[in-house]
Parts: sequence; C-alpha cells; structure tokens
Amino acid sequence: MHYPIYRPRRLRQSETIRRMVREARLSADQFVMPFFVAHGRGVRREIGSMPGNHQLSVDELVREVKETASLGIPAVLLFGLPAEKDAVGSEAYARDGIVQQAVRAIKDSVSDLLVVTDVCLCEYTSHGHCGVVERGRVKNDPTLELLAKVAVSHAEAGADMVAPSDMMDGRVAAIREALDESGLEETPILAYAAKYASSFYGPFREAAESAPQFGDRRAYQMDPANSDEALREVALDLDEGADMVMVKPALAYLDILWRVKAEFGVPVAAYSVSGEFAMLKAAARLGWLDEERTMLEMLTAIRRAGADLIVTYFAREAARVLRQQER
Ligand code: PBG
Repeated sequence: MHYPIYRPRRLRQSETIRRMVREARLSADQFVMPFFVAHGRGVRREIGSMPGNHQLSVDELVREVKETASLGIPAVLLFGLPAEKDAVGSEAYARDGIVQQAVRAIKDSVSDLLVVTDVCLCEYTSHGHCGVVERGRVKNDPTLELLAKVAVSHAEAGADMVAPSDMMDGRVAAIREALDESGLEETPILAYAAKYASSFYGPFREAAESAPQFGDRRAYQMDPANSDEALREVALDLDEGADMVMVKPALAYLDILWRVKAEFGVPVAAYSVSGEFAMLKAAARLGWLDEERTMLEMLTAIRRAGADLIVTYFAREAARVLRQQER
C-alpha cells in the first residue's frame, strides 16, 4: 500500500466516515466511578485536588450513586474513611464499618448497579500501610488473614465484587478461599494485579487520608520500571482465582495494559488514578488544555491500549458527554 494508490485521508473526510471506521469506542458501560464514604450525616467535604469529588456520608453517597446509575454507569468502587484508625485496621473488617454500611444502603436503594469494594487496610491503619507492620516492616502472611476478613465482610454486606489493592503476595488465593468457605463462591474478585508504586496516587491519599506515616510502598507495590514482572503478577493472580485483573495507574502504563490484554485475553480493568484526573483538571483551570476533549482522548487511549473497563473519576462527566454526542 503506497501513495498515490493508498490515501489514508480518504477515510478521514467527514465525521460520518470517521465514525464508521473508528476502532476503539467509549461507552458508559465501561466506566466504574470511585467514591469515598465517611461517617456522619449530611457530610460533603470537597477534596481539594480532585474537583467535583467529595468525602460523602452514606446519605449523600446514596444520592450521588443514584445519579451515577442514572447516567448509565454500571458500577461504583467504594473506599472508606473509618471513625478511628488502629495498628491492624479493625474497622476495615467490622460488620458495621463504614464501607459495610454504605454497601447495605446502596443495595437497599439502587437497583441494577454493581457495587465493588476496595479491599485494603491503608485507610484504616494508624501507620497508613496496606498490611500488618512489625519492626518497621509490612509483613505479608499475617496480612492475608485480615484482607480475607475484609473481603468476606464486604461481600456479606452485599458487595457484588471485591477488589484487593494491597499487593501482598497470595492475597487473591486467601480471599477466594475465605469467600468460598463463607458460602460466597459467587462473588467475583477484581485483582489490582499490576499496581505500581506511583506518585500519581498523591491526590487520592488526601481523599482517603491514607498516606503512609513512615517510608513508602515500594516494598509491596511494583517498580514503575518493570513490565515483565507485571505479567508474572497477573499470571499469579489469575492462577489464584482472580476473575478480572487491573493495571494501575493507566495513562503512563498503556504498554502494560497492552501486554496484559494480548498475553492473557481476560477482562482487564485500568485504573485512571487521582493524579491523572488532577493533572487534567489543573491544566484545564489554567486554560492550558480543553478539558472535555482531553478527557475523551485519555479515556479512548486507555481503551485502545486494551482496557475493557476503566475506573475513572471522570466517569460521570464522560458519560454525560457521550450521551450528548448520541443525540
Ligand atoms: C489503596 C489504594 C490506593 C489507590 C487505590 N487504592 C492508594 C495507594 O496505594 O496508595 C489509589 C487510587 C488513586 O490514586 O486514584 N491501597
């Protein structure tokens, strides 16, 4: 194929023809909207670095979740802010913990919506790490038991899917086994399989009040320089019973998404994290980027790279724009 026989511009002449030959498509069906739930009533605390996102009490959360569902978004992902933090993150697996309360409330009032819960300890521990700390180190195996308890408590409250984000070795198997033993063998696991130790999580740590109080997460989250290792992580999680796998962050890790999708052909989620959202919001506020177009381009690129699902703080805004475009 060469010029002048082949003229690629022929198929770019109008929006109608471009629409016909478009490869990657965006739809609200692919979005998952994250929420941060806090104790109290009537609580709406805006998260400074994530405009439009708030820490919400359960009553306010239910309202926002209803609105989210009405936009055609099929799923939400819940993070909790506990009343108190302690060394082992007790509220994470308490029957009446904040996420457990939120799940019950949503399930009672919104139908046809998938409630996914983030299974981790960092928002609940006084030291802010994702596991049990002994002598300044995050211990892997003692953490597994706690993560399994978190997952079971979420599923018992009615969560449709659990999403472990801690990056401990063996946690998918531990969670699968605990769910099955509790008669929750129908609950799927979305594993944050390739989760990197990323600076792009900065705004989230403000939102979830989950910054580590000493050190960082590089002894359990992945080194941003590695991609073969991501495939090993995904293989391991699938082997342990993960139903879907996630790559996180998204935008700086499109090559990982591509490799994971090509290699395994399983449902792959991408988490377009807080820092990706914040960068665009900030640039748009300064008038340096067109927010709507850049948002759609970012999300389309994530789809093109191989993501089936996208967890994104833009879920509602993008769903609204897509809906307008259809008209
Ligand atoms: C908890 C968790 C984090 C994110 C999702 N789950 C933070 C972290 O690992 O420090 C980040 C999400 C985001 O930045 O939007 N382990």
